[in-house]
Amino acid sequence: MIKIAVLVSGSGSNLQALINAKLSGKIVGVISNKPEAYALERAKQANIQTMVIAHQQYPHREAFDDAMHQQLLDWDVDLVVLAGFMRILSAKFVQAWEGKMINIHPSLLPNYKGMHTHQRVLNTGDVYHGCTIHYVTAELDAGQALAQGVLQVAQHDHATSLAQRVHTLEHMIYPQVVEWICTGTIQHTALGVLYRDQIMQKPIQFCKL
Ligand code: GRF
Repeated sequence: MIKIAVLVSGSGSNLQALINAKLSGKIVGVISNKPEAYALERAKQANIQTMVIAHQQYPHREAFDDAMHQQLLDWDVDLVVLAGFMRILSAKFVQAWEGKMINIHPSLLPNYKGMHTHQRVLNTGDVYHGCTIHYVTAELDAGQALAQGVLQVAQHDHATSLAQRVHTLEHMIYPQVVEWICTGTIQHTALGVLYRDQIMQKPIQFCKL
């Protein structure tokens, strides 16, 4: 059984969706860099081990990442799932977990890397918006995309309503993609990423238009 660690910093609604999904893999632990993250409460209620690794207590990013790396090794983790984890990871850490670490980002990557994606979509006047699940590589929000949830921006949408709508999509597609990794439907191989034993050419799209 695949052992999963979820890394969080905030509310943890994606963590909750993963817990609720009853995955074939097991969430063996949740790490937060913030002691006050509500995600920790959700993990405790689900009887999942938690660990706070507060970044301010480390002299530099690499030392913080080393502490996380050690914890992941101690839990014998196969898959690291970033779910609202708001720290940039060092290249060394990312390399150590390459092909075994995924993230969800609230935009249709490669559009709108970084922060404030909903407002930026509105400012541009885009018709479509959504979220992307991707492997984590050293470059921010740039690893291979596995799946995207797509929605149509409504005329009355504002940044808060878009954030809510994208969140709802995230809660649908993140558990699905994690389950596909757990069952080998998605595989990271030397040849590339496989989906149902074929090279994945483009992310799997879920549309809620
Ligand atoms: C989500 O919008 C996700 O796309 C981004 O951080 C947010 C996490 O929300 N990476 P939550 O903590 O899972 O509620």
